[in-house]
Amino acid sequence: MANTEQVRVWNEVNPPRWIAMRGPLERALRPFGRAAMDALGPRPGELALDVGCGFGETTVELARRCGAAIGVDVSQPMLAIAQAEAPKGVSYLCADAQTHAFEERFDLVFSRFGIMFFEDPAAAFANLRRSMRPAGRFAAVVWGLAAENEWAQLPIRVVGRHLALPAPSVGPGPFSLGDPAAFSRLLSGAGFANVSVRPLDLPFEGDAGLLLQAGPAAAALREAGAAGDSLRPMLEAELRAEMPARLGAHALIAVGRG
Ligand SMILES: C[S@@+](CC[C@H](N)C(=O)[O-])C[C@H]1O[C@@H](n2cnc3c(N)ncnc32)[C@H](O)[C@@H]1O
Repeated sequence: MANTEQVRVWNEVNPPRWIAMRGPLERALRPFGRAAMDALGPRPGELALDVGCGFGETTVELARRCGAAIGVDVSQPMLAIAQAEAPKGVSYLCADAQTHAFEERFDLVFSRFGIMFFEDPAAAFANLRRSMRPAGRFAAVVWGLAAENEWAQLPIRVVGRHLALPAPSVGPGPFSLGDPAAFSRLLSGAGFANVSVRPLDLPFEGDAGLLLQAGPAAAALREAGAAGDSLRPMLEAELRAEMPARLGAHALIAVGRG
């Protein structure tokens, strides 16, 4: 089976935290998803696939704009919530988007921060392209490089004063598609046409509590176990005191044709 570690993480590690911070996280991610969806331009009558759909907020928005959307994700706990809230026109599939043989042929393939976790991105993007109708449209938003994301760097600096930080991760992870040239080559190599990858710089609208629950600093805190738990209130106060009025977030919007 592919992606076993990410399947474990998104079923056993992340869901409780993601469920707890769902509202604030959704508010922080929404502007990025909206920009990617505007780049996609869903039209009534089109069928959309939402890759790594999580709780399905963007799947519902896709269906609202075009009539029908399917969300695919490996996280059963997150999909159970999405499923319970699914309006007409929305359905969900628990499957690995890297390997699943989709029966449908999609007019649109979309993702909001759900495509950075594949262990074999070339195979995954080729699989997604195969799921599309000829000239179908692809649009996705991913994080830029970690070093260019102040929302990730500032909490790391604060946590790093008090706890050992893990080595920056290589391989699947939130910043794995952050190099625009490499991301563009990956999509073209998977057979997408008219690929373009452009920066999207917006403020990250999250407070100190959220920043210590999501992202690399949160991982360091979790790994510290009980020591991390007891430091959390102090770290949160320290982070709050250092947060600028505008915390920068650097994302990339990729578009292409199937
Ligand atoms: C950062 S979350 C984004 C969730 C959602 N798109 C959002 O914006 O709220 C990444 C999502 O990708 C899913 N994911 C990770 N690897 C996947 C894979 N191989 N196939 C399908 N979904 C995957 C995770 O389970 C998780 O729900």
